[in-house]
Amino acid sequence: MQVLALNGSPRAQGNTHLALRTVCEVLEKEGIQTEIMHIGHEAIRGCMACFSCANGQGCAHADGDFRARTNAMYAADGILIGSPVYYSAISGTLKSFLDRAFFSSKGRLRHKIAASVAVARRAGAVSTFDQINHYFLISEMVIAPAQYWNVARGLAVGDVLSDAEGISIFRNLGKNMAWLLKMREAASAIRPPEAE
Ligand SMILES: Cc1cc2nc3c(=O)[nH]c(=O)nc-3n(C[C@H](O)[C@H](O)[C@H](O)COP(=O)(O)O)c2cc1C
Repeated sequence: MQVLALNGSPRAQGNTHLALRTVCEVLEKEGIQTEIMHIGHEAIRGCMACFSCANGQGCAHADGDFRARTNAMYAADGILIGSPVYYSAISGTLKSFLDRAFFSSKGRLRHKIAASVAVARRAGAVSTFDQINHYFLISEMVIAPAQYWNVARGLAVGDVLSDAEGISIFRNLGKNMAWLLKMREAASAIRPPEAE
């Protein structure tokens, strides 16, 4: 089993990466492969509402590695998305990517296990966490929980590691995500409901 983690921060090794890494370390301990894919530093265009993807042509933008990245998402058993909090919301680059990746997913993320993490200096982390979860819910993904909303505090790179409660939440999230992934695999004989 494999979890693909998307880092929506422009800082490759910043707090969002450390939050994702904390979850991934637990997943790896539970025998689940992980990959952290950094997208937050890239120039990613937003959705143009051309409906090329809805018409079966895929996303009309040919920028960067969009196709390779979305194919990796669709192939994974679980998706973990991390964002820094920018004005109480996800980073602009991450939004540009997620709008296109989810709009063109056409059911390929349905019933996969999903989770999100957000890191803020002070405020706006819960709305950011909620924002990411909207992509999961409308795609009929199964969201892994923790003992609190999956948020932590930090400003400078590395600060998040000093937020003991935040790190505990991320570790617990990793355990619950691993458990859901194993349950999903063990239940593969049970037919999922038909999509309406
Ligand atoms: C453009 C910008 C907007 C930000 N907005 C907020 C905010 O609304 N609330 C907050 O608590 N922190 C805010 N921050 C601080 C970041 O969320 C914080 O530094 C976070 O740890 C960055 O994660 P990173 O190290 O992965 O980049 C903002 C930072 C930037 C650069």
